[in-house]
Amino acid sequence: MPTFHRRLERSAIGFVLAIIGVSAIGGFVEIAPLFTIDETVEEARDMRVYTPLELAGRNVYIREGCYACHSQMIRTLRDEVERYGPFSLAAESQYDHPMLWGSKRTGPDLARIGGKYSDAWHVAHLINPRDVVPVSVMPRYGWLQRNALRFEDLGRHLAAQRALGVPYSEAMIANAAADARGQANPDSSEAGGVAERYGKATNIRVFDGDPGRLTEMDALVAYLQVLGRLTDAAHKPVPAAGK
Ligand code: HEC
Repeated sequence: MPTFHRRLERSAIGFVLAIIGVSAIGGFVEIAPLFTIDETVEEARDMRVYTPLELAGRNVYIREGCYACHSQMIRTLRDEVERYGPFSLAAESQYDHPMLWGSKRTGPDLARIGGKYSDAWHVAHLINPRDVVPVSVMPRYGWLQRNALRFEDLGRHLAAQRALGVPYSEAMIANAAADARGQANPDSSEAGGVAERYGKATNIRVFDGDPGRLTEMDALVAYLQVLGRLTDAAHKPVPAAGK
């Protein structure tokens, strides 16, 4: 008397139907939660977009492969929340194209790194991590301080992000290059426009310590300092069920 499995494997059509059936269950389990996405994903109305300088810093972060060692996604597990801060919300990455959640943590998660250290700490750490963390295995990124930042095409970059759904205005796109220079030089005439377009809470300062030059270091530090700070949504208490 052949077993059920033996019979099934011998019937080509029956076996194909069984495979389709099992895959369909797997597919349903993955797809079904998406039907409730509107109720699941919380809103963050106070969320602002990245400034051109922060966006340029994000590009440097991608180019240098920082995501290979750093995640930007705090899970809901207790040890992560105690170490890094409130867990990440989906809304916090709504303007991230591409997203940089990452899956590997050779170094710590960076989702809430903004404001944790001074700009000077980041500059010293990126030039040589061992100067501030003696046991660090992170590579040096000294050239960021030497490389002038390419800002001429930032307007087009903002326009591309807008095509993906990020709400950049015409004025933001038109002034992208000037805003990138202004954000890293508070004494310049271009600084005022940054606060006007991106809000008073925007960090406008000399990130790399040298007001005379706009470098890739300025951009990367501006980006790191805003991680986890584009909205307060994650810091608000979670309402109890039914409220
Ligand atoms: C080879 C893996 C590796 C790469 C690549 C890497 N890091 Fe790190 N990073 C680490 C490790 C390990 C630490 C922890 C030790 C330290 O603080 O230096 C760290 C720490 C940090 C910290 C401090 C985090 C904290 O909470 O104290 C920041 C900020 C940081 N890295 C940024 C970056 C940036 C930006 C890049 C890309 C330019 C980068 N890292 C690339 C491994 C890496």
